[in-house]
Amino acid sequence: MIRLGVNIDHVATVRQARRTDEPDPVWAAVEAQLGGADGITFHLREDRRHILDRDVPLLRGAVVAKLNMEMGATDEIVSIAIATGPDQCCLVPERREELTTEGGLDVVRHRERVGKAVAQLRDAGIFCSAFVEPVERHIKAAHDVGFGAVELWTGGYAHARTPSEIAAAIGDLRRGIEIGLTLGLEVHGGHGLTYRNIASIAALPGLSEFNIGHSIVARSVFVGLREAVGEMKALIAKYAPQ
Ligand code: PXP
Repeated sequence: MIRLGVNIDHVATVRQARRTDEPDPVWAAVEAQLGGADGITFHLREDRRHILDRDVPLLRGAVVAKLNMEMGATDEIVSIAIATGPDQCCLVPERREELTTEGGLDVVRHRERVGKAVAQLRDAGIFCSAFVEPVERHIKAAHDVGFGAVELWTGGYAHARTPSEIAAAIGDLRRGIEIGLTLGLEVHGGHGLTYRNIASIAALPGLSEFNIGHSIVARSVFVGLREAVGEMKALIAKYAPQ
């Protein structure tokens, strides 16, 4: 079974558009779980543009599914993660100007800083995942510094337009999965996955988790979050290898 982690940051983005108290991402976490989410994912960004400090302990209390905290490898955020105790931390690159997390973490270049963060999180008993592009040297570096999982960036596939670009992106992911599994890592996938493009990726053997946000929250405006999560779960189950 491939787990579905639902990223609820976009609910917080709507709240922050008015700096008010609705919609509450903690309510979203409850609704997503009622819809069958296997996990709830949130990203506490350095600039607090969507998820706020106030949300973090409330999410920890409200989530009985797997709680996955996306984060940059900074001392401040590592301390908050350790105090919160999510089930998993997913280390991502963070640049202030970006719209969302674009591309994977360069574990080779930031080996020292990332390695230190992973060591601290692991000492606190937190399983760590690295959000990386499906590129051998990054997957190997993630393994070397102590990550237990890689979340392969599926943006290359999501942004591909022509059949040959799509085939190449799927090939990259297929190879990335093989490399990760050979190293003994769990292999997850995320970024840009939608109801329209999930089938080919769900069909790849070896993935154990997806983290999906924008498409599910976008659909929830029309059908409600419970229903939107249920529809994505059903698609993943339909196309996943048996
Ligand atoms: N996984 C990671 C590591 C991410 O940074 C994001 C974006 O916040 C997602 C998954 C979800 O991406 P999307 O909102 O495009 O589904």
